[in-house]
Amino acid sequence: MSTKYNFYAGPAILPREVLKKAQEELLNFNGIGLSIMEISHRSKDFDQVVTTAESKIRSLLEIPDNYSILFLQGGASLQFGMIPMNLLKGGIADYINTGAWAKKAIKEAKLFGTVNIAASSEDKNFSYIPNNIHFTPDAVYVHITSNETISGIQWKSFPDTSNVPLIADMSSDIFSRKLKVSDFGIIYAGAQKNMGPAGVTLVIIRNDLIEKSADNLTSMLSYKIHAEKNSLYNTPPCFAIYIVYLVVEWIERLGGVSAIEELNNKKAALLYDILDSSDLYRGTADPRDRSKMNVTFRLSSEELETRFIREATESGFTGLKGHRSVGGCRASIYNAMPIEGVEKLVEFMTRFEKKL
Ligand SMILES: Cc1ncc(COP(=O)(O)O)c(C=O)c1O
Repeated sequence: MSTKYNFYAGPAILPREVLKKAQEELLNFNGIGLSIMEISHRSKDFDQVVTTAESKIRSLLEIPDNYSILFLQGGASLQFGMIPMNLLKGGIADYINTGAWAKKAIKEAKLFGTVNIAASSEDKNFSYIPNNIHFTPDAVYVHITSNETISGIQWKSFPDTSNVPLIADMSSDIFSRKLKVSDFGIIYAGAQKNMGPAGVTLVIIRNDLIEKSADNLTSMLSYKIHAEKNSLYNTPPCFAIYIVYLVVEWIERLGGVSAIEELNNKKAALLYDILDSSDLYRGTADPRDRSKMNVTFRLSSEELETRFIREATESGFTGLKGHRSVGGCRASIYNAMPIEGVEKLVEFMTRFEKKL
């Protein structure tokens, strides 16, 4: 089979080593003669997977002791609702509207309280991160989307919200760069971009917010219950958690988040260099705020875009079509994309431009 370079936005590329290890262990996990998918979530072998995954996540992200780590289901989309459902209780929350994902979070929050749009970049098609933010002094929390997967913009530094908890949807850039967890009240992320397969969502939540969470919720939507039961209230997505465990081991072997960040900076620079220097390709995000995970760009016409995507696919570069809501092209270059993949794409883009 010819080499494939996977630029899909999500579900997305996983490290080859992780897939190989999962393949090797598929029929015989840990020498027990059974698959990880076939054993009780309360067995000691699965317990080792969850506790190791959790402790590696804690150490990779330097998560302080006063935060809990939860593995939940329902995707990041369920967190759009669970956060206000647990915390808002009819109060006011500030949301920063940076794109399609922020908008979905806003829609859900409105069901549980008042939403103040503290800033928005909708005026320019979500091509930038707004910096003129009007915070509500007594807001219950401030919500941001650290990386907008569709329009390709990313917060480079995070707003200072003083003692109002900052909540971030990091679905498309978790583990891609160093961060200070104590600046946040909650960080959440669906696994299927930088962390594993679809099916599990990581929630890192400060314990005082768990304590403040609503009591009158159905168990599966309650942070309190999931935290009390260490994410094992019901059967968790065992296989997805197992892959996350392999991915965090892989990040550790590569040298941790700072080593990954350095590589991500190089990969993004390679792609943005060609966008900045070419007459054919044009980046769509404001250069100050462009994402190091999802590089969005256009060609000079839609016909050329269609041809570019077709020829790229034929040459092994998959997943370059922009999101259906915005069109154009998008190269998602998550942690697992090796630098050679980006170099090869840049070579392909250069050849494509030259032959026109
Ligand atoms: C930034 C961001 N937030 C939320 C979501 C929704 O995640 P899920 O499909 O896991 O609910 C996505 C999915 O692509 C995303 O990119």
